[in-house]
Amino acid sequence: MIQTKITEMFNIKYPILCGAMMWIAKPKLCAAISNAGGMGNLTAANFETEEDFRDAIRETRQLTDKPFMVNVTILPSVRVTGDHHKMYLKVCAEEKVDGIEVSGAPVDKACGMEYVDMLKKAGVKLFHKVGSVRHAVHAEKVGYDGIYAAGIEEGGHPLDDDVSTMVLTPRIKEAVSIPVVTVGGIANGRTLAAALMLGADAVMMASRFMATRECEIHDNIKQELVNRQEQDTTLICKSIHLQGRALRNETVECVLETEARGGGLEEIIPLISGEKCRTAWQTGDVNAAPMMVGQSIGLIHSIPTCAELLKEMMQEAVERINFVQANIQS
Ligand SMILES: Cc1cc2nc3c(=O)[nH]c(=O)nc-3n(C[C@H](O)[C@H](O)[C@H](O)COP(=O)(O)O)c2cc1C
Repeated sequence: MIQTKITEMFNIKYPILCGAMMWIAKPKLCAAISNAGGMGNLTAANFETEEDFRDAIRETRQLTDKPFMVNVTILPSVRVTGDHHKMYLKVCAEEKVDGIEVSGAPVDKACGMEYVDMLKKAGVKLFHKVGSVRHAVHAEKVGYDGIYAAGIEEGGHPLDDDVSTMVLTPRIKEAVSIPVVTVGGIANGRTLAAALMLGADAVMMASRFMATRECEIHDNIKQELVNRQEQDTTLICKSIHLQGRALRNETVECVLETEARGGGLEEIIPLISGEKCRTAWQTGDVNAAPMMVGQSIGLIHSIPTCAELLKEMMQEAVERINFVQANIQS
């Protein structure tokens, strides 16, 4: 086993966390990952009302007595408003969740410093997902407890600084003294070992967890993740300043073509609507919506249980580290 500041902070077996996933990171998958020794993720925006969100936290707690993270995404959205963000943070404090992965704008700027204070008072560990040193430094300054360093390889919305994981983790390690979690390009034991060598205190991954038995998406999508390779993702929506990494498919080609000819928000928004994504995950139509995935897709070759995945990853990471150590010559 490998002990890090993160395994100690949350008292977890493996330094492997799950990231936010809209429509996907819900109680069942979240609890399966936490029960397997990592840390699952409950993505708040999956729940519309205060009651639904609180129920989801309580449902997860019935499925696991282990810690899990909650994601609060503070990005421009038609559906999820500033009032939602404040409500999610308030419920997290009241329910005393273990930790929060904030993405997009930091809590102090989006909701006010009183929300940071409220969460700290409740004992909630506050993490910010960033793509740059300057955002990491800001988070540490306002009292966050940790950083997710998300490189351009990641699925979802990597920062348009476009810095790779290989450079971002050590740069952020140099700049802050709070724990750092490497994000982007992580999917197996080799990449876990590499992140630890870069100085990470844990890794976070999302795409890899989609191709697990417990993930509640259609089997066609899981099989598509196994079939496709690292070159099959692309960046979309740069032109509307909401860069996202998605799997190349018919919808994504259409978004790229619309952007290339200068089509604006009114043309792009219907193509990327959340409702389309939700339906695609359920029906298994791999062309119907932009499917957010990372370059780590190239490393996904199987559909194991979460327990099998985490055990295998840890074993492989330890083997790699031991191999390197055994071959050091003075
Ligand atoms: C299907 C999917 C949905 C995602 N939804 C969100 C989201 O709602 N909020 C967020 O901050 N990040 C979201 N992400 C990004 C992940 O939390 C994570 O930062 C990223 O996927 C890590 O890279 P990886 O997928 O290569 O492991 C999403 C990623 C995926 C794959």
